[in-house]
Amino acid sequence: MRRIPEETIDRIRNQTDIVDIIGHYVQLKKQGRNYIGLCPFHGEKTPSFSVSPEKQIFHCFGCGKGGNVFSFLMEHDHLTFTEAVHKVAELSHLDVELPQLASDDSAAVPKETSETHKMIEMHQLAAKLYHYLLLETEEGLEALNYLKERGMSEELIQTFQIGFAPNHHATITSFFEKRDLDLHLAVAAGLLSERDNGDIVDRFRNRIMFPITDDRGQLVGFSGRLYNQEEGPKYLNSPETPIFNKRKLLYHFSEGRQSIRKYEEVLLLEGFMDVISVSEAGLLNGIASMGTSLTEEHIGLIKRVANRAVICYDGDSAGIEAAFKAGSLLAQAKIEIYVLSLPSGKDPDEYIRTYGADKFQTFYTHERQTWTAFKLYYLSRKRNMANDTERLAYIDEALFEIGKIDQAVERELYLKQLSDEFDITIPTLKEQLQRAVQELSRQKSRVTESHDFSNMLPPPDESFDDFQTMPKEKGRREAHFVAEQHLMKAMIENQDAFSQIHQLLESSRFYNDDFQALYTHLIAYYLDGNEASASRFMDYLTDMRLKNVVSSLEMIESPEEQTMEAYSDYILSMKKYRLEIKIKQKEQEVHEKMRLQDHEGAIKASTEVILLRKSLANKDYDFADDETF
Ligand code: UTP
Ligand code: MN
Repeated sequence: MRRIPEETIDRIRNQTDIVDIIGHYVQLKKQGRNYIGLCPFHGEKTPSFSVSPEKQIFHCFGCGKGGNVFSFLMEHDHLTFTEAVHKVAELSHLDVELPQLASDDSAAVPKETSETHKMIEMHQLAAKLYHYLLLETEEGLEALNYLKERGMSEELIQTFQIGFAPNHHATITSFFEKRDLDLHLAVAAGLLSERDNGDIVDRFRNRIMFPITDDRGQLVGFSGRLYNQEEGPKYLNSPETPIFNKRKLLYHFSEGRQSIRKYEEVLLLEGFMDVISVSEAGLLNGIASMGTSLTEEHIGLIKRVANRAVICYDGDSAGIEAAFKAGSLLAQAKIEIYVLSLPSGKDPDEYIRTYGADKFQTFYTHERQTWTAFKLYYLSRKRNMANDTERLAYIDEALFEIGKIDQAVERELYLKQLSDEFDITIPTLKEQLQRAVQELSRQKSRVTESHDFSNMLPPPDESFDDFQTMPKEKGRREAHFVAEQHLMKAMIENQDAFSQIHQLLESSRFYNDDFQALYTHLIAYYLDGNEASASRFMDYLTDMRLKNVVSSLEMIESPEEQTMEAYSDYILSMKKYRLEIKIKQKEQEVHEKMRLQDHEGAIKASTEVILLRKSLANKDYDFADDETF
């Protein structure tokens, strides 16, 4: 197998976001500058696994494992370095030329088959053609005007690569034919259809075309909308194909991922037109299923990127029902839910067109209902409140919901609302609530406890306390250890710092063996002409343990002072410690010699102790450096 050139590896490393890649495997939550989650390498209930987007490395404060994006995949999926590089390139959709993996390695990497790859390429070609036909041709004008009348800007049409399929049976068919593409494969991909007589024709005709990507951002299907008074379904989607699977597809999931992580929540919408509209209102975390109700796979995708969902479905009865159904599923998956209830049957797209983007933004931020509030509203809608029996039934249901709330204050709030609404005293409601809570706990004890992400606790603030890759280091908070840590960190991160410290150190060794080993590797690393980069240096190291030390170093805060003086001070404190250790050892030697009745030896050792103590007093710390111990 050919080696992958250094530059290619660098390119892949530089163009990849470790948060995104690890996010495929671990649910990450933003915490200060880093992301945290449950470590995939050891069982834990509170997250101590940390990923730094700045440094492009991960580190677990629980088990001490750490590394860069490649080491993560090597460890997680048991891949070789080369396989990990391939997989990273694939997961980040990077268009890089990589040497073929030997056939025995390739099994480890779930690669796209060449057929699905071709299907995706066909979609890309078709999308380009559709987009061109919408914007640049006479035929597309009516469709374009329709979109503009809907208030869609050209920019939005660009961003979402919206296109137009003309009213011909062979737009794509002849386009593909000319390019010698396999038309039967295009049928299997859902772009063309085969008639009973064997003729192959375009599947989408006379529709506005919306390209649809999967969770990895690959173009896998289309939805085509009617724009004039034609007969037929309003939206025609791609059929189920090897690449288009509605159960697993969420519109805008891949594109919205970054925003979702930023807001720490998804905005779940009913239609993909709504996703496009809210993006115009500045909300880029919108996603929608393709006209199906939410599946387990969808929830799995959502859980990968967020713990909170804001549901904003149509304001009509069907929308409220669907929101209740979706919310219940998400709640089961321990996702925190809010609901935006739009007025009078509007969908978000219509709301924005009527009241403007700003109004929607405000609505989104300030008027979201809690899941409980929405459920109470949902339940009340089903009851005829003029009827006593119905009213009592509603109060029962409402108390049952209120009983599920953990926070006393929140519970009180809803009790107060109920009390006001139905003119029942709070103590009476509380008495009945008690019964509801008992019923609930009976139900709960029957359900086995599932993994609870809502318990996610931040890792201890001071990562230093969890510096676990340095076992048996008793005085780890001592000055010398901190000094060695900061020197090491500075040398890894900055080549100038390396040169300065290297000079200052002269022949001094690091007391910590891992640091000394790293130092030796670092000298070779820079001599080889490499630039400073923790992530790159990790690939240079072959020893897993040392990689872990690097990642733990990278996770500690750098001190503000990064000057020659600061480095000298660190080195002094390092040397001082070595001298102190040396004195202790010599003192022990004195005792040992005395015990063995070796008076001459004892006197010699004592003299040395005196000399060493003197140099300690004189701050002449270099004394100990001529000998190794
Ligand atoms: P809606 O009918 O609410 O569409 O369907 P919409 O988003 O408001 O679209 P406009 O504003 O009329 O253009 C919601 C979703 O249901 C699916 C689509 O995924 C749509 O986004 N759907 C709807 C279909 O798949 N086929 C249909 O015929 C209608
Ligand atoms: Mn609509």
